[in-house]
Amino acid sequence: MIRFISVVLIIFAYGRSQVTENEENCPGSTVNNYILGPDGYTMQPTVYTGESPKQGKPGKRGTQGEPGLKGNKGTRGEPGQADNTAEELQMLKDEVAEMKTKLEFYLTPPSCDYINRTEKTSGTYVISPDLWTVQPFSVYCNFTGETETIIEHDSMNEIQVTSCEPNKCYKRQIRYNVAMEQIVALIQRSSECRQFIKYRCIDSVLLYGSQSDRGAWLSRDGTHMKYWGGATSQRNDYCACGETGTCVNSNLKCNCDANSQTETADEGFLTDKDTLPVTGLQFGDATAPGEYGWHTLGPLICTGRSE
Ligand SMILES: *[C@@H]1O[C@H](CO)[C@@H](O)[C@H](O)[C@H]1NC(C)=O
Ligand SMILES: *[C@@H]1O[C@H](CO)[C@@H](O)[C@H](O)[C@H]1NC(C)=O
Repeated sequence: MIRFISVVLIIFAYGRSQVTENEENCPGSTVNNYILGPDGYTMQPTVYTGESPKQGKPGKRGTQGEPGLKGNKGTRGEPGQADNTAEELQMLKDEVAEMKTKLEFYLTPPSCDYINRTEKTSGTYVISPDLWTVQPFSVYCNFTGETETIIEHDSMNEIQVTSCEPNKCYKRQIRYNVAMEQIVALIQRSSECRQFIKYRCIDSVLLYGSQSDRGAWLSRDGTHMKYWGGATSQRNDYCACGETGTCVNSNLKCNCDANSQTETADEGFLTDKDTLPVTGLQFGDATAPGEYGWHTLGPLICTGRSE
């Protein structure tokens, strides 16, 4: 109970802090800052009236007085009688949750999808997928087509696998410019996320040849994942062509697993929100001269909303 009340007070304090710098303005002047409106949920521009800040009203349900909403220095109302019924607690929780959603919308958008794109251009924006658990961070917002929130990493271009033979002998860590907890908050706030992954090969097995577990991508928590992009069933050893029976060798589940001297590739999107983003890439069977592999990993792209 105390925690929820504190949170409410912090939120109101934040709202009020937005207008303190305008105390010198002339009476009646309109200022550009926004403050929580009288209903406690919607924001509205502040108009400095020159009057003393108003006292907040006493709490409606005997829990906590409402903060003064209009005045720059409005003080809190008198606390009512404490009444800790489960129903009251739930109402307060609901109220706080709704307030949080409104604040996120007006202060920092949870993702690019919450930005009104009619008057914006694609570019870098600050988002805050969860106002209470992670710091805001910068992403690329793509407003062409469906709005995309994009997080890049340090291995965006195609990279050649350095010569080595045993399973997973080549290891590349993928580093993002924002913390994993921030990325996960965005994923949880989005309805869909995807990441493109590709292995281009000459005589280099990707997932399964005479030995299994040749290559893998590492999940969010570092688990070796044994299916490839585009394999929607997520079954081990499957690439996209294996799902549709269209691999260069129709008995196999990946083009590269044919281990052929003819260049080929396996590619597609990873879409599992529980395991994205990719944190590492590992390959083997790429001993030069003769065996070559190249990997490409796209940025993490999230779309839609998940409340
Ligand atoms: C987005 O901005 C445009 C232009 O300012 C406005 O007409 C429209 O109502 C806004 N949409 C939303 C959902 O706020
Ligand atoms: C933005 O989205 C459009 C349409 O989906 C796509 O063609 C373009 O490559 C994207 N731009 C970036 C920078 O991702």
